[in-house]
Amino acid sequence: MSAISTVDVGGAAPYRIEIGPGLLGDGARLAAQARGRHALLISDRHVAPLYAHGVEAALRAARPDLHLATHVMPAGESHKTLACFGEAIEALAELGATRDATVYALGGGVVGDLAGFAAACWMRGVDCVQLPTTLLSMVDSSVGGKTAVDIPQGKNLVGAFHPPRAVIADTAALRTLPARELRAGLAEVIKYGALGDPLFFQWLEAEREALLASDDHALAEAIARSCAHKAGIVERDPLEKGERALLNLGHTFGHAVEAEQGYSGDGRDALNHGEAVAVGMVLAARLSAMLGMAPDADTERLRALLDAYGLPTALPAGLAPEALLARMRLDKKNLAGRLRLVLWRGIGRAEVVPGVDEARVLDVLAG
Ligand code: GLY
Repeated sequence: MSAISTVDVGGAAPYRIEIGPGLLGDGARLAAQARGRHALLISDRHVAPLYAHGVEAALRAARPDLHLATHVMPAGESHKTLACFGEAIEALAELGATRDATVYALGGGVVGDLAGFAAACWMRGVDCVQLPTTLLSMVDSSVGGKTAVDIPQGKNLVGAFHPPRAVIADTAALRTLPARELRAGLAEVIKYGALGDPLFFQWLEAEREALLASDDHALAEAIARSCAHKAGIVERDPLEKGERALLNLGHTFGHAVEAEQGYSGDGRDALNHGEAVAVGMVLAARLSAMLGMAPDADTERLRALLDAYGLPTALPAGLAPEALLARMRLDKKNLAGRLRLVLWRGIGRAEVVPGVDEARVLDVLAG
């Protein structure tokens, strides 16, 4: 694989994902995405001290005429709120951003979702360039145009589909990523194999050591293959009318866990998003086996792979099954008040199942 790999996302608003080391310092590449004279760099208090200055300097050197401001928000899912969204909008207003402005979203999924939503709303939509700095955001949230903030009633309940103008993923940023965050991202990578690509699943079984050791080539390949997978799906189904729902394998269970924890995944004890998805995938696989849809052996293979990557595979103690089920009833995928879950027929064969029996779900949640 060459130093920089690209994945093209087609459809009505096509864009390119560029993946490689050092891209955040490549001013010409970053500036090439700014169509107008205004740009707002949005980042958070963890990521900004590491990379914002370099990105600003690179952009200014390549485009001295650019009116560039930086807005730094607090870090963590608990700040993906309407209040922080309002502050990002105020930063755009202060900048005097016009309709050809560009928002650069520098950080993980929280920054990407919130900055993307601000870009979607400012003057009914300006360009957003995603600059993901975590593995999780490189392989999932920066691609596909889902933007949102959370409200107390649930995660991502206020948002818009707003595809980015470009995604520029600097793999060198992964070198400063805490091991736990790397593993959380790998849960989403494993998801792509589990939902639709048995050969990728096998590759992930074989490449565990290299990936956990943050080997540059292995990580770049994992990111490119994950993005190619997601690109294919969002190209065919950008607004999640069908196939795109498969990308939520493990997420309905996972979101319920996150919500029951009170979005405190920023804390050390609570599961973070990737970890909650890992548990959720195992629960979805168990439920599939219980419903006679899939072999137990595939559940065990998935559980073993997640475990080998240091990810949790069982619900944390203290979460009541009824409370989790109540959270699952609020999921956006549900139809006509009935649970609609992403289950599978085995490795690489996920499908959306409507009208899932709540009693079976409770059985799985009760272990
Ligand atoms: N993260 C799931 C999706 O983008 O559809």
